Amino acid sequence: MTIHIGAQPGDIAETVLLPGDPLRAKWAAETFLQNTTCVNSVRGMLGYTGTWRGNPVTVHGTGMGMPSLSIYVNELITAFGAKTLIRIGSCGAMQDRVQLRDVILAMTASSLSTPSRGIMRDLNFAPCADYALLRAAADAAQARGVPAHIGGIYSSDVFYDERPDLNEQMVRHGILAVEMEAAELYTLAARYNRRALAVLTVSDHLLTKRALSPQDREQSFGDMVEIALEAAFA
Ligand code: HPA
Repeated sequence: MTIHIGAQPGDIAETVLLPGDPLRAKWAAETFLQNTTCVNSVRGMLGYTGTWRGNPVTVHGTGMGMPSLSIYVNELITAFGAKTLIRIGSCGAMQDRVQLRDVILAMTASSLSTPSRGIMRDLNFAPCADYALLRAAADAAQARGVPAHIGGIYSSDVFYDERPDLNEQMVRHGILAVEMEAAELYTLAARYNRRALAVLTVSDHLLTKRALSPQDREQSFGDMVEIALEAAFA
């Protein structure tokens, strides 16, 4: 047990899928895994362990934003031995060619800061995905006929951004989408020599201001879970 995860040693699989929303963790585990058990509910942050095609898998919520994700990922890695960590979440598109429901595979994640910023001092560390996971996820998306974009994303500290000029620069520099967690996930994976990837589905578009309906969100979330599982065990 750790401060934020009430699981016993051995309750958490080496492969962990990480949605932001704890109820998405419950839904994904109940929909895609067999023999699931709830392994954490401290502070309402739900984690489930089960099997997928016979492989042990944990699906654990992270909450929103890098400080929250950092707590769970630190504990999952250092106390429970998580080795492959795949964020499954939503993002806001920042390029015209990216459509609602498309999948984004985040090759790298820019940020203004992360919870790890303090130890980097004046180094602009470049958090990046595990290449084998990225390639396997791209193959899985293609096999399913799901349009996938591979490139850089932006992990923001704020949902309600007061800096439109910064968005303009990111659009100009080809950033595909914005979310709030991947940069810290990639940084922690690098620190502990683990594999990480963010598989994201486009839930809203910053340029067109369009957003997915709740029903479309669920369908695209399902595609994302299956792409993440296939990549983890490719
Ligand atoms: N901003 C930040 N995070 C997000 C967004 C957004 O527009 N959409 C989904 N996650």
